[in-house]
Amino acid sequence: MKWFCNPAAIAIACLMVPVCAPTFASMPMAADYGCVNCHGAYPRGESPSLEQLAGKMAKYKGDDAALAQKVAKYRTGEPLEHIDAHERLSTEAATRLLRWLAEGAH
Ligand code: HEC
Repeated sequence: MKWFCNPAAIAIACLMVPVCAPTFASMPMAADYGCVNCHGAYPRGESPSLEQLAGKMAKYKGDDAALAQKVAKYRTGEPLEHIDAHERLSTEAATRLLRWLAEGAH
């Protein structure tokens, strides 16, 4: 079992890592929202890895207007595949996660 599948490990990581503060997305947040189930070290099916996602999202770095448009599309599942884990995110959570990816997913 990977550490990020273990709720206790996530809780400990959250206590230790200041990036877990609510305004920042982080690996624990991606684990919490189930993103790593498909985009983690062993991507599921056709899912891009986190690294590939970071590459795709890099163009939105520092451009909040473009990021907001991307978030809106992403949450409706267009023109992508419909993925529940994407579509049930709030605008706020999706913005945080996509910004985190745009900044390199560290
Ligand atoms: C059930 C598997 C699954 C889960 C869970 C999942 N994704 Fe995805 N995700 C995919 C697949 C498959 C694609 C590729 C879709 C496509 O290209 O049409 C994708 C694509 C993406 C993209 C690329 C969008 C683009 O414009 O190319 C981003 C960003 C993304 N996912 C973020 C996330 C985040 C953040 C989470 C956690 C909230 C998450 N995903 C959870 C399967 C998943």
